[in-house]
Amino acid sequence: MSDSTGPDGKGHAAASRDSDLRPSAVLLSTIGEIGEQITTICDKLGRAEAGVKTYAGALDKVGKDLSDPRITARRLKDKVGQMLSATARVAEQNSALQGELRSSNAEIGRLRQRIERLHSETITDPITKIFKRKWFDHSLDFAIETADERSRPLCLLMIDIDRFKRFNDQHGRRLGDRVLRLVAKALSDCTTGQDIVARHGGDQFVAILPNTEIEDAEKLARDVIADGLGLAHVFVGADFRFGKGRAGTAVDLKTFGKSMGFGVTIAEIIANDLGEVSSTNIRKSLSDGRPADAAAMLGHWHRIDGEVFGGDQRGRQLGYPTANMSINRLHPPKFGIYAVKVDVLTGPNTGTYDGAASVGIRPMFGENRPNLETFLIDFDGDLYGEHLSIALIEYLRPEAKFDSLEALVAQMDDDCARAREILATIGAFPFAPPPLG
Ligand SMILES: Cc1cc2nc3c(=O)[nH]c(=O)nc-3n(C[C@H](O)[C@H](O)[C@H](O)COP(=O)(O)O)c2cc1C
Repeated sequence: MSDSTGPDGKGHAAASRDSDLRPSAVLLSTIGEIGEQITTICDKLGRAEAGVKTYAGALDKVGKDLSDPRITARRLKDKVGQMLSATARVAEQNSALQGELRSSNAEIGRLRQRIERLHSETITDPITKIFKRKWFDHSLDFAIETADERSRPLCLLMIDIDRFKRFNDQHGRRLGDRVLRLVAKALSDCTTGQDIVARHGGDQFVAILPNTEIEDAEKLARDVIADGLGLAHVFVGADFRFGKGRAGTAVDLKTFGKSMGFGVTIAEIIANDLGEVSSTNIRKSLSDGRPADAAAMLGHWHRIDGEVFGGDQRGRQLGYPTANMSINRLHPPKFGIYAVKVDVLTGPNTGTYDGAASVGIRPMFGENRPNLETFLIDFDGDLYGEHLSIALIEYLRPEAKFDSLEALVAQMDDDCARAREILATIGAFPFAPPPLG
């Protein structure tokens, strides 16, 4: 781990020097503390040994004195008294030593727990809670050696999530992490205590299966797919590709599915006069500002759904109050002004309305986070917090920066008039909004 730089731009290496929390530093300081405890114990034992030697010397001397036949009764009494007090002193020292050793032992136990915790954090992937690659590498060496020595079978199972980066980019890290956890859980649930399950790379998982024949490893792979991931059937387009270098075809998947216990349906590619119906072409239509073409391929209007959040309240002052919605993590349609159909799905104003909407950054008011701002024609009501579904019908123009607010408002008047006309021509709204999940 390298020294990081704080938000103020100053490195915090100096600040953390006194209390360095890097695992390696904590480990070293913990080992140092254990060393100190051991030195203390040795010191104490050394002192105890010196005490015992003195005691033994005193006993020896008293023994010699007692063996003198001329010893008087009084002297005998003195000697026995000395012996008893020396014994009491040693007993006292021993009991103090015992107490100190007990507390040192407890301290070492605490330090040992800290090392165990640190070790487990160092070898465990924080997202999936399975082992990290480092521990996998180490375990694999050990597993190979053991399998060789004992002539036992050893299998390795690898799972790779195809195009995971794209999934992450499209749906966000939070959902991506959930997928990783799902795969890790599926693998862990289907393996046993002797197996080592690890995250090998960003989107790769491995399981070391000691004492496992290839047939049993194949069965385990089937269990992971069917029971762990709950996969029963897959629908793919005829142009589907998977695996390394995207070498696997839809037909290969069907064969693979047969051996792994899941069904595969290959959907034929449909084409219209715009070309093949594919998510790529649909996205391109939207990026180009051709929502009708996207709708022709989708079989319904492309919709942006979501909750209305409070904006800067400028629209109300302009005479154009808008329902503001996020387009975060959605495929962004071409920025600009659209004629839209609006479905208000919740609240007292539930219904379908005509509208004009702006998708983009609102250059009139600086560079803003892109969003969707919809004006509902002939509507008067509060929509904050309600769930709306906005169908993009036709692209009217790009967003613009006008010389004055009056010029913007005049343009918005014009946009709404055009939207009215366009929306009148599409007749009855042909596609019902999807039900709320
Ligand atoms: C029909 C329509 C046309 C719009 N055209 C533009 C535009 O050309 N340039 C721009 O910066 N903002 C445009 N906007 C966005 C408005 O500036 C924005 O909705 C308004 O300022 C309200 O913002 P607020 O809800 O954050 O208060 C348009 C909005 C609508 C509904």
